[in-house]
Amino acid sequence: MDYNFDEIIDRKNTNAIKWDASSSTDILPMWIADMDFKTAPEIIEVLQNRVSHGVFGYTQTPEEFYISIQNWWKRRYELSLEKEWIIPVTGVIPALSTTIRSLTEKGDKIIIQPPVYNHFYNSIENCNREVSENNLIYDNGIYTIDFVDLERKATDPKAKLLLISNPHNPVGRVWTKEELQRIALICQKHNVIVISDEIHCDLVFSVYKHISFASLEDQYASNSITLASISKSFNLAGLQVGYIFTKNASLYNEIKYILQMQEMELLSPFAIEALIAAYNKGENWLEELKIYLYNNYTFLHQFIASEIPEIKVVPLQATYLVWLDCSALKPSSDEIAITILEKQNLWINSGTMYGNEGEGFLRINIACPQKILSEGLERLKKALVKSEI
Ligand SMILES: Cc1ncc(COP(=O)(O)O)c(C=O)c1O
Repeated sequence: MDYNFDEIIDRKNTNAIKWDASSSTDILPMWIADMDFKTAPEIIEVLQNRVSHGVFGYTQTPEEFYISIQNWWKRRYELSLEKEWIIPVTGVIPALSTTIRSLTEKGDKIIIQPPVYNHFYNSIENCNREVSENNLIYDNGIYTIDFVDLERKATDPKAKLLLISNPHNPVGRVWTKEELQRIALICQKHNVIVISDEIHCDLVFSVYKHISFASLEDQYASNSITLASISKSFNLAGLQVGYIFTKNASLYNEIKYILQMQEMELLSPFAIEALIAAYNKGENWLEELKIYLYNNYTFLHQFIASEIPEIKVVPLQATYLVWLDCSALKPSSDEIAITILEKQNLWINSGTMYGNEGEGFLRINIACPQKILSEGLERLKKALVKSEI
């Protein structure tokens, strides 16, 4: 290993939402989706050089920004992107809200697949659009898509967009080409545009393969928009950078227009430098990170199987967010999460944060040094001792 993911970094008093949102000094936060590792040293060096320059005026997005994105997707996902398809943005959630505002009217419906990332609900509701829930099917520990229900929801003339998490946060699924093609076919038939949030795509574990929605057949790719970022893969969420791409010129123009109207087009010089450095110099770090994360997942899996067998770990194909099936425990997810916090100062998410379908589940973030993970699991075990809960 060239990089040290075991290093414990004190993030307290850095205004990190994960660590500083609670006033408790003994809190162990394993909730919000960022990592407790330093980003790649190659990225830090580039940012340090930029800081040394000392002038941080309005910054244009250079050609290199687009080229590094194009090379990344070509190299890793066999996807050729034209520069004219790419729109830089300050994050995936801002991109999502902009896309919703650009392509739908107040009162339109947007289909999502719960349990799913909570901000999908927020973005839709903040834009005064309606959520239409195409719940995933959970059977025998595995999540799949309910295509019959999807078709029913897509048939509603008010349904204008389907928003997918590809790979899926929080259930950890990597959607297969066949699954994406079935989604694509249904959506095309009913004039529903697909927004594919691929923010977690670089964190797919080795036996699985990320399929970008944009790499499907031309007619399907043209009916879609992809949202992506370096923020999860390289732990750079605070720098606020991401991008949208679509090969459909009319969708591109509508989104670009709203971004211009909202004066949201400029990125910070650090965002630009970080993206270029991540995609050009960060790949070795990312590959080692994935090995470390998978080891953490295995560690968690073994711990829970032997120490807290009432909990079932939903198989993790991607991301560092593990979905725990706690339905065998009596209390609700919210009650369990509160008990864990109150008794052991361990902060993990109740499944209901991701919609009603999350009842019976907890989400735990394992992107931390294994020593910290081990401490978190011990706290989880103590909190769940039968007599206490
Ligand atoms: C599926 C998904 N989309 C978007 C985001 C947030 O994106 P950003 O920080 O770029 O706005 C997250 C963060 O956890 C996520 O899980």
